[in-house]
Amino acid sequence: MRQSIVAGNWKMNGASSFVQEMAQQINLHAADLDNVEVVLSPPSVYVAMLQQSAKSYATAAQNVHFAKSGAYTGEVSVTMLQDVGCKYVLIGHSERREIFAESNQLIAKKVAAAMQGGVVPILCVGESLLQRNAGQEFEVVKSQVLSALQGLQFSADSLVIAYEPIWAIGTGETASPEQAQQMHAHIRKVLAVEISAELAEQTRILYGGSVNAQTAALLFSQPDIDGGLVGGASLKVEDFKLICSAAAK
Ligand code: PGA
Repeated sequence: MRQSIVAGNWKMNGASSFVQEMAQQINLHAADLDNVEVVLSPPSVYVAMLQQSAKSYATAAQNVHFAKSGAYTGEVSVTMLQDVGCKYVLIGHSERREIFAESNQLIAKKVAAAMQGGVVPILCVGESLLQRNAGQEFEVVKSQVLSALQGLQFSADSLVIAYEPIWAIGTGETASPEQAQQMHAHIRKVLAVEISAELAEQTRILYGGSVNAQTAALLFSQPDIDGGLVGGASLKVEDFKLICSAAAK
């Protein structure tokens, strides 16, 4: 059975007091959850601090550069994330793709660097409303997945995929469990056909986009949904705890 993951993406929110509160609360809460890995993804300046207090959660950075070191002002490398004990990194979030113009090519370089450096990429994919209305959602997501993984050798524990339809992020409009399940099954099929059936079976695929304490349980009960990537609701401690509990098997 695949272990579920609930990852809280704080985006550019939080402060050291919030780091301390979350660490304390989630250490307590996550220790009792069956078969759920809780992941907290704060702004990079707080990753080390949050990691130092980690007992029953893991941390994820929200971005990384593909180079090991060098003249890249403002960037953080995989080696540095590994150095502070960070296990995961979000790559290809739609906000990075749209606001910071990250291309599929750049995302592929980051995924390769993360895997090589031993930090697990949480590869984010998802279509826009325009693409969905044009009936292109399956094609778009397939090409995002395949372009990021092209030519890489890896095992299922070195990759997590997050399906996040752009129209559902931060809008309060969650994809229906059926819509999400359909896309997750599609992603799993793409992995099976293009890489291997075993990898497809074992890879965790998370849903993201307005997951909240009310919608989480039904989404997570779908056969191909292995937990969630949670933005807004991960900033509300009680809601986030409920969402983590909803992923317990
Ligand atoms: P949301 O964000 O839960 O606030 O929609 C999800 C995300 O962007 O990862």
